[in-house]
Amino acid sequence: MQTDFCKELGIELPIFAFTHCRDVVVAVSKAGGIGVLGAVGFSAERLKEELDWIDEHIGDHIYGVDTAIPQKYEGMDKTTPEALVKMLQEAIPDQHREFASKMLSDAGVPEWPEGDDEVTLSFSAVQAQALIDEALTRPNCRMIVNALGTPPDDVIKQVHDAGRLIGALAGRLKHGLAHKAAGLDFIVCQGSEGGGHAGEVTSMILWPQMVDAVAPLPILAAGGIGNGRQILAALAMGAQGVWLGSRWLVSEEAHAEPAQRESYMNATSEDTVRSRSFTGKTARMLKNEWTEAWARDDTPDPLPMPLQGYLTFDAVRRTSRYAGSGDCQKVAFNPIGQVVGQINEVESCRDIVFQLLNEYTDALDNINALTPET
Ligand SMILES: Cc1cc2nc3c(=O)[nH]c(=O)nc-3n(C[C@H](O)[C@H](O)[C@H](O)COP(=O)(O)O)c2cc1C
Repeated sequence: MQTDFCKELGIELPIFAFTHCRDVVVAVSKAGGIGVLGAVGFSAERLKEELDWIDEHIGDHIYGVDTAIPQKYEGMDKTTPEALVKMLQEAIPDQHREFASKMLSDAGVPEWPEGDDEVTLSFSAVQAQALIDEALTRPNCRMIVNALGTPPDDVIKQVHDAGRLIGALAGRLKHGLAHKAAGLDFIVCQGSEGGGHAGEVTSMILWPQMVDAVAPLPILAAGGIGNGRQILAALAMGAQGVWLGSRWLVSEEAHAEPAQRESYMNATSEDTVRSRSFTGKTARMLKNEWTEAWARDDTPDPLPMPLQGYLTFDAVRRTSRYAGSGDCQKVAFNPIGQVVGQINEVESCRDIVFQLLNEYTDALDNINALTPET
């Protein structure tokens, strides 16, 4: 199972774990794969604390950091985070603010305490730069990954000059080709069944097309992988590794309020939707009253990214912290992919990795048994 890309990185298993939780990063890297910390919700100071903790606990293992610099966004001309945030806050229409705020109060979601700025949002190059600078001070951080677009040329150069690899997510062939043309080292190719931002083409169709289109660049297959059979399928289609996001959300190490975990555990694969209602770009999440309300004709349309993200920032942090209050789950942000229907138990990341491996080996044996020995 050790692919060339694993060898290049020096990891045993081609299992890449996208997560916002430092404990998941450490657990998966220690189990032989590699954890990649999503930093979009962190300020540079907070990321420093998270990486300090990871560095203390991860031993000799390596990890990655993921940022979100969209290809195009409102306020791209702003050169400081302060100017960008001010412009975005002023551009949000009152009608949108009132609609969002009423939905939260109708659902009984408590207000966010004043002065608590534990959570932030960095959907832009000016904000992500400080995160990348921090990540590159860490010798064990071997890869930077970017969501939502090809990273700017100066970031690619900076990461390469620091001797690390840089990759990016792609949900469309043309995005993968743009990543290759920009000189990225690998592509995370995500089909539409995946959690978080997702395009329209399914993994079964997109992965092999991407493998062929960007060869010899390594592809990590993402979107819809939750067991070893799906890993075998991805590797059979030419992927050099698999990139899983949803699978870790209900692991023992993931930080989640019990009510959110329960929503995930009770959901079937038909209970997700691709919705623009939280970030402004289509992202897959659990369907609820919030996602349905923003899709109606008689309600405001979601704003473009990152405006909608700034508008719903309060909803995201409140519904995460107060997941079990009132009817919070009716309006909560619960991003997850269609594999949610396969996830029925809370297990440790280590057990999940072993299970993935065992299922992969069994599936491979079954395939090999189809070929008669000569
Ligand atoms: C809760 C959640 C949040 C995500 N946030 C990000 C993100 O900030 N950056 C990113 O590159 N990908 C993000 N993704 C997408 C994952 O990196 C990954 O591509 C996706 O989860 C793979 O599909 P799967 O959910 O079927 O495993 C997120 C996915 C989930 C489930």
